[in-house]
Amino acid sequence: MLKGKKILIGITAGIAAYKIPFLIRLLIKEGAEVKVVMTAESCDFVTPLSLSVLSQNPVSIEPFNKADGSWHSHIELGSWADAFIIAPLTANSMAKMATGITDNLLLATYLAARCPVFYAPSMDVDMYHHKTTQQNIFTLKSYGNILIAPNSGELASGLTGMGRLEEPQKIVEILQSYFTKNLSLSGKKVLISSGPTIEPIDPVRFISNHSSGRMGNALAYEAAMRGAEVIFVSGPVNEYPEHPSIKLVKVSSASEMYASCTEVFPKADICIMAAAVADYTPQNPEPEKIKKNEDTLKLDLVKTRDILRDLGKLKNKNQLLIGFALETKNEIDNAISKLHTKNLDFIVLNSLKNEGSGFGFDTNKVSVISKDNTISEFELKPKTEVAADLFDIIQKEIV
Ligand code: CTP
Repeated sequence: MLKGKKILIGITAGIAAYKIPFLIRLLIKEGAEVKVVMTAESCDFVTPLSLSVLSQNPVSIEPFNKADGSWHSHIELGSWADAFIIAPLTANSMAKMATGITDNLLLATYLAARCPVFYAPSMDVDMYHHKTTQQNIFTLKSYGNILIAPNSGELASGLTGMGRLEEPQKIVEILQSYFTKNLSLSGKKVLISSGPTIEPIDPVRFISNHSSGRMGNALAYEAAMRGAEVIFVSGPVNEYPEHPSIKLVKVSSASEMYASCTEVFPKADICIMAAAVADYTPQNPEPEKIKKNEDTLKLDLVKTRDILRDLGKLKNKNQLLIGFALETKNEIDNAISKLHTKNLDFIVLNSLKNEGSGFGFDTNKVSVISKDNTISEFELKPKTEVAADLFDIIQKEIV
């Protein structure tokens, strides 16, 4: 499963660094190619020489070589790797990762990495339970990194509790299952709509909504990581997902989104409409800026075309169509009604009543309802994990 996979291991200064030579041996045995980047302080716990012999590659520590002035590119390591595992990860390095500090090669590599990053915190029990540490673990997760949670047990300090680095064999298994999962959507084309639409009133004003596009971004990235080819139709947002398998189609208004989605849909295997499409648009946008000559201003709005409903009419038996529902009351009933009237396979219900859920948050709490009305409820979690939950459900449907 790991044959030919390029694994970059990052080591920070924790006693559990002694487990890393075993991890490297196991990875090499599985056919992976391994490189190591380590902090200068971690060299007191495990020697670069042992790591270089075992990995059959030079170990990177400093950003440049003082002797000959050559530069070790942090970008190179991060783009070489298929996965970056930072283990053990100390509380100190984790805090730096969570805030973007890059005062060594390992941290700069992390910030520049394009591959999935696995992080395995390891420290003393009280440090682990400190609110700052827990917040940093959460922050890193919300950025899409994958947590390899520590175990509970006897610690180097003599105390017992959470903080032991996961065993090397288990880390290898986590990687194996990650790569297996990632093959699961290969050959599939996934259409995802995301973000708000903006409807012009005049050349300087518009009607829109608070959608940040973060849920759609997470979905696109998750689909791409599972091997799908993604066509990502997005309204204007601040950040777009970056992945070689994501083709970005930028649109502005509901009618532009309609045109792009209906054009792509016949070729798609899976379509997820996560966009917050305007339901109404100004009937006659003014060609010139409206002057404030009158005390009141009446805008005539007309309904936009419901993209999802029209895709539901076009859907064939081999396609899966998933919608989102944002409700403020009678949530389940309204979502079920949209599921059936729009001919969907699943609907993902967001409620604005849940704290930390909906527009502008990195987290979301959703229920996924399938066409036989089965409801799967999920906890409040980072949008990246909500995306993974949804694709786990979708995948069961396509095998
Ligand atoms: N949707 C769409 N085209 C529209 C409006 C909505 O494709 N013109 C899609 C959204 O992307 C979402 C689903 O329909 O996947 C439900 O959107 P939502 O705003 O919750 O519901 P509406 O159908 O617009 O109904 P209402 O606003 O009355 O709740």
